[in-house]
Amino acid sequence: MDKFVIRGGKPLSGTVRVSGAKNATLALMPATILAPGSYTLHNTPILRDVTTMSRLLESMGSAVSRERHDLRINSAGISRFEAPYEHVKKMRASVYVLGPLLARYGQARVSLPGGCAWGPRPVNLHIDGMRKLGAAIDLEAGYIVATVKKFKGARILFDISSVGATGNVMMAAVLAKGTTVIENAAMEPEITSLAEFLTNMGAQIDGIGSSTLEIEGVDELHPVDFTTIPDRIEAGTFLIAGAVAGKQGAKIRVEECNPRHLGVVTSKLEDAGAKLEIGPDFVAIEPPDEIRPVNVTTAIYSGFPTDMQAQWIALMSLAAGTSIITESIYFDRFTHVPELSRLGANIALKKNVATVIGVKELVGAKVMSTDLRASASLILAGLAARGTTEVLRVYHIDRGYESIEKKLRDLGADITRRSGGEF
Ligand code: EPZ
Repeated sequence: MDKFVIRGGKPLSGTVRVSGAKNATLALMPATILAPGSYTLHNTPILRDVTTMSRLLESMGSAVSRERHDLRINSAGISRFEAPYEHVKKMRASVYVLGPLLARYGQARVSLPGGCAWGPRPVNLHIDGMRKLGAAIDLEAGYIVATVKKFKGARILFDISSVGATGNVMMAAVLAKGTTVIENAAMEPEITSLAEFLTNMGAQIDGIGSSTLEIEGVDELHPVDFTTIPDRIEAGTFLIAGAVAGKQGAKIRVEECNPRHLGVVTSKLEDAGAKLEIGPDFVAIEPPDEIRPVNVTTAIYSGFPTDMQAQWIALMSLAAGTSIITESIYFDRFTHVPELSRLGANIALKKNVATVIGVKELVGAKVMSTDLRASASLILAGLAARGTTEVLRVYHIDRGYESIEKKLRDLGADITRRSGGEF
């Protein structure tokens, strides 16, 4: 397994270009099941998770090939309707194939995802939604076994906002007979992007971007090409790199991003003392003279993203004061905290609340990646720490950040990937 070796304290500045959004791509790819034929998805990121989804679609019979950031998918050859455990255990987003397989082929056998680094990841909202649209669903030996003659439109009210369940149900409803109304739908940009992709394919969806989606089922859809939106979490991660390890008096310019998708992250960075210049497709950040403590509570879009919580704690570890970070989406998403403490961070955890008492400096040490965003948090802390930090098991980071070490080196970081070894 690989590790990153980071010699901290190098002041970062320069320009970084954001890749396409992982979580948008992972929704667009299964949507190609809905209409047989050839698609090209432009600006897709080169990531382990995208490869996992490609392998899953191929196991069903689709042809998938990549030319740099263009992903070509031909779904005409699908003849198997299963998402086996070996795919789903690697990546929960595999459950996204459930809705499209049922909508197009009337059958699906999809493994339950099990848990992840920070606890259970239920899919009850996905299953309830399919049932409401008329699917017969049994759970057998860790699999969702589902059949439906043809989905019938229904009113679906999610008691909690769920990105995945909204996407899955939307992909089921576009070929249903009649009208489906999804209430309390997720409004994350990745879901809006999926809705736009489906509309381009011929779907009829009203309320895109709002929490109420009205979908008029159609008889068939057709393949289209599409361009993936920029990754707002990667953009936010590089902005925090600028705040925690940026060169005083200089800037990190995060380009090819969509500042509107960053929600409250930019205003929270300004509260922490960073100076931001926000353009139409870039954000430039100048680090604070002194990092101010800023409380954050994660929320659904366009609140502070849970996928940025770990990175924010890394920044607050060096603030001049105490901050309270409340995780309201995944209550136990704190596996990064004990690892940050190994670098000298002073963090007290109580249920889903982290109290971060800022320290003067972090000191490099060996730390272990546990999941994607925790890895990002450890890298950010290592960039700011005195001395050398080794971040082990970086296959986690390769799931969601394209060439992160190269992008950071281009900003002046001293970070190298070491392969092999038992790390
Ligand atoms: C998506 O996961 C993202 N993944 C996650 O990003 C992100 O953290 C999450 O949305 C929240 O924004 C992808 O898009 C591939 P949810 P998803 O359904 O769809 C509960 C990353 O780092 N819930 O919105 O799985 C759930 O437990 C990843 O890129 C149910 O109870 O998240 C959570 O508490 C990590 N039952 C809340 O809803 C369900 O059936 C929100 O989860 C589904 C979800």
